Amino acid sequence: MVAFKLPRNSLIKPGKSYPAPAGAGRLKSFSIYRWQPESGDNPRLDSYDIDLDACGPMVLDALIKIKNEIDSTLTFRRSCREGVCGSCAMNIGGRNALACTTAIDDCKGTVKVYPLPHLPVIKDLVPDTTHFFAQYASIKPWIETQTPPPADQERLQGKEERGRLNGLYECILCACCSTACPSYWWNSERFLGPAVLLQAYRWIADSRDESTGERLDALEDPFKLYRCHTIMNCTDVCPKGLSPAKAIAEVKKLLVERQQ
Ligand code: SF4
Ligand code: SF4
Ligand code: FES
Repeated sequence: MVAFKLPRNSLIKPGKSYPAPAGAGRLKSFSIYRWQPESGDNPRLDSYDIDLDACGPMVLDALIKIKNEIDSTLTFRRSCREGVCGSCAMNIGGRNALACTTAIDDCKGTVKVYPLPHLPVIKDLVPDTTHFFAQYASIKPWIETQTPPPADQERLQGKEERGRLNGLYECILCACCSTACPSYWWNSERFLGPAVLLQAYRWIADSRDESTGERLDALEDPFKLYRCHTIMNCTDVCPKGLSPAKAIAEVKKLLVERQQ
């Protein structure tokens, strides 16, 4: 599948308009980014008026209603509709968010929906996350061990050791944080970005992992880690309430400590 990267705002034009049917009750307008790169056309913003009395409460409900009842060509990702899978991440009203956990009533005026910023677009609201997940794979997101496992039990953790993973294990890899980070916008080829760095720290913090030194070696790089300038957009935007900036600071602290 080919994905295209393009400065989005400069070329976007108003597109088609789909007014609500006569007699519709509580109306809400949605302005949605549409682009099929292979068509050769420029992106456009289509408008849809939705009767909120005939729609579920979340932005994802409205997108599904549009796709099912108004315009089946609208393309977006979703799976769990519970804030668990991370696939419905998009830019809603200027802020990266999960469509399934964003209430329509919390969106003022026309609801503007764009794909996550600064990722190549495959179609409409679907970004190409190939590079993002390749970066995730690069941090070896699994337990690495050197010692043989205990003979008759799993590798156990105490309560306190398990507690160190709180605020890390909940990450659903939605990419809301990385695509809100200016350093990642401009250096995503080499900077790992907040989501992947939080995940890197999740495995460093795991008491069962025995590759902390190698993991820190791999991160000690002017671009992979140190492009973070503590702008904090990542922590501000995370729909799971996590703090990638704090996790990044912990990694930096460990790197300093091991030099002392
Ligand atoms: S840290 Fe939060 S915003 Fe970033 S990928 Fe994980 S869940 Fe999404
Ligand atoms: S704190 Fe670091 S990772 Fe987070 S938005 Fe700022 S520069 Fe990006
Ligand atoms: S559909 Fe899974 S997080 Fe929104």
